[in-house]
Amino acid sequence: MRFKSKFFFKFFILIFIIWIPLLLLPLILYGKCSHSGSPYCQLFSSPYFPDAADGGHGTNQQSENGFVRHGEMGEPVKFQPGREKEIERLFKINQFNLLASDLISVNRTLPDYRMSRCPKHLSQSYKLPSTSIVIVFHNEAWSTLIRTIWSIINRTPSSLLKEIILVDDASEKDFLGVRLDDYIKSINANIQLVRMHERSGLVKARLKGASIAKGDTLTFLDSHCECTEGWLEPLLFEIYKNRKTIASPMIDVVKDDTFQYVRGASNMWGAFSWTLTFKWYVLPEREMKRRNYDKSEPIRTPTIAGGLFSVDRAFFYEMGTYDEGMNVWGAENLEISFRTWMCGGQLLIVPCSHVGHVFRKKTPYTFPGGSDKVILNNNVRLAEVWLDEWKNFYYLVRPNAKSVSAGNLTSRLELRERLKCKSFRWYLINIFPESQFPLNYIFFGKVRNEQLK
Ligand SMILES: *[C@@H]1O[C@H](CO)[C@@H](O)[C@H](O)[C@H]1NC(C)=O
Ligand SMILES: *[C@@H]1O[C@H](CO)[C@@H](O)[C@H](O)[C@H]1NC(C)=O
Repeated sequence: MRFKSKFFFKFFILIFIIWIPLLLLPLILYGKCSHSGSPYCQLFSSPYFPDAADGGHGTNQQSENGFVRHGEMGEPVKFQPGREKEIERLFKINQFNLLASDLISVNRTLPDYRMSRCPKHLSQSYKLPSTSIVIVFHNEAWSTLIRTIWSIINRTPSSLLKEIILVDDASEKDFLGVRLDDYIKSINANIQLVRMHERSGLVKARLKGASIAKGDTLTFLDSHCECTEGWLEPLLFEIYKNRKTIASPMIDVVKDDTFQYVRGASNMWGAFSWTLTFKWYVLPEREMKRRNYDKSEPIRTPTIAGGLFSVDRAFFYEMGTYDEGMNVWGAENLEISFRTWMCGGQLLIVPCSHVGHVFRKKTPYTFPGGSDKVILNNNVRLAEVWLDEWKNFYYLVRPNAKSVSAGNLTSRLELRERLKCKSFRWYLINIFPESQFPLNYIFFGKVRNEQLK
């Protein structure tokens, strides 16, 4: 017995003597990473943080964080206390936690979010159309933009990916210039970059990208997305079955503070309020029943959020693309939604397709012309062309819109004629009976008893 315990004692001492330095070694070496470019530091830093060092804000986070690969499998980035000021300062640039984003690999892994009922090998079983992915960006952060691109390349069958078209809407950041050109050339994938000469807004920039696309379909994405496994095939499958389809993925949330990937709610659809603002609402029972309570079935949504969708390229042009009289951003998603339904197409949210999107609480960008004016202009165009007599509801809740001149509407009204589109009443009855817009009304406003004055 005595012998045995002595043996164990020695054994433990030995283990202790060997292991402690081994455990400390990386810490010691890491500690030096902020001052030296030693190969050891590069071994751990460069594959995961290739862009942080010269991006100007993310320098040397790897030294403090040791072996941690931040954000893998969609996990949130965790910070040591004491970095709040830095986080706050960098947050203001893009209205998301840039420090967190810069710490996450551009190739970060994500879980497979598909439900078990979702088919897994669509591109082998069907001759799906190819797609050109169009991404418009304006002053996007380097790490979010590059992660968007890699998430596409890593998780899209190359047989379906015709090309990625990046459209720079007159960004002012240096790193989005030559450095981006060079980076893209270094990637072994068909990526094109076109630049707008002046700030043009989402609509014109997307149209510019679409004009050089060669794929059978177009897929529009935002510049701070992460595509998950099998995201594209279910979208293309819906277009394959019915080419008059605009197919949106389930939009999951990449949190603006920690970049945690959170699966979005599957029981929501897109609609709008009386002020013509896009809103998510809980799916009505009617739609759940139509889908036989199968959550993997596409949702016939009244409107789409507009940031992310696929569409047959020829159908997109037949249908009049976008309203080019709309500036910057806003209302173009409702315009394409009403137009698609009223003129014979359909809008689907496809729950088997998951794409993450960094949702921000406010926009970091300036609106040329002022945001209120831009949004009023766009909404008035929307109301005047598509809402028929229901436009009066909009003017009642937004009286200052009445005095806005929304420019020349002739070509959009002609388009509606030419496509023989149905009325907004038809849309309210057949597509969105749950709307707050009453179908029949005599008077809208306040009733007051004069004698109570
Ligand atoms: C991301 O992955 C691609 C291909 O898998 C690889 O070529 C590239 O170097 C990776 N980038 C980084 C920064 O890890
Ligand atoms: C409006 O646009 C149409 C063509 O789209 C054009 O024929 C017409 O002259 C324009 N009207 C005005 C007032 O500019």
